[in-house]
Amino acid sequence: MRDEILEFLRKNKGSFTSGQSMSEACQVSRTAVWKHIEVLRSKGYKIESFTKRGYRLLEEPDLVSPLEMEDILTTETFGRTYEYIERTESTNREARRLAEEGTPEGTVVITEEQVAGRGRLNRGWFSPYAKGLWFSVVLRPTFPPIEAPKCTLMAAVALIKAFRELGLTTAGIKWPNDIMVHGRKLVGILTEMSGSMEAIDYIVMGIGINISSQLKDFPEELQSIGTSFAVEGVQVDRRHALDVILRCLETQYKKVCTEGFDSTLEEWKLYSITLNKDVTVKAPGEDYIGHAVDLDRDGNLIVERADNGQVERVVAGDVSI
Ligand code: BTN
Repeated sequence: MRDEILEFLRKNKGSFTSGQSMSEACQVSRTAVWKHIEVLRSKGYKIESFTKRGYRLLEEPDLVSPLEMEDILTTETFGRTYEYIERTESTNREARRLAEEGTPEGTVVITEEQVAGRGRLNRGWFSPYAKGLWFSVVLRPTFPPIEAPKCTLMAAVALIKAFRELGLTTAGIKWPNDIMVHGRKLVGILTEMSGSMEAIDYIVMGIGINISSQLKDFPEELQSIGTSFAVEGVQVDRRHALDVILRCLETQYKKVCTEGFDSTLEEWKLYSITLNKDVTVKAPGEDYIGHAVDLDRDGNLIVERADNGQVERVVAGDVSI
């Protein structure tokens, strides 16, 4: 019903529509129309109202609801099943639930706000209302489970390409998958897999991108390490950005499904800000300093240790530059 009222206002955007005509068209009372208008206003729609003239839609919020996205999406499969939840604990959690129920490949679960967003290494992920893109994509690849961790690297490559298309050219990838701008984190990627030793049942690729938050909007502990498109001086419409991002993810995913990961890993190297740098490795059990010399075919970072010259293969953990 609210969608019908919104459609009505949209058709007449800029001019007035009487409450009476909407109540007749939507077959509800004028009081019900008024209540729906109030709800739309609370979600950020700017709707003017004058007695005798009716309602006039002035401005729409930058929401990523299905109604807003249906005319914008240009992808083939990604986002064609689109689960929008205005507020949720974590889109990864919801996506896993849907994946268990058999939702098709390319399903996107997206929200305006996560109240328990999850990050890597059991950290949280700050996801304020309508200020970022917080979503998860369900994948059902036929490649073997050992390849699954490379999906995170694939996502990072696709995101860098999308960001360039959106006008942000200064982003780079910190191993394994943080997207950084001027030393601050713009994006987090959390990939989770379910399957057996032989086959992947599904992968949930969760992505969080800070779009319009200002530094003061971040919790204090993130103010010196986080960034957003807005902080970097790049204004984007979230809906347009989502389309570009899903399109780039879809293209990159198709590429790895048909050609394998090798060329994507080469692209990763081009966008990397970790390679050829001195790094501190926080590996399980020990921290050490070294020089990041390469990325191997499995997506592991190759580091030459400063203390003994030994070449280490970093499989898990974190590095700081
Ligand atoms: C990281 O720690 O860098 C990864 C953060 C991943 C955050 C995204 S936001 C959408 C999806 N849902 C979650 O709960 N986490 C991921």
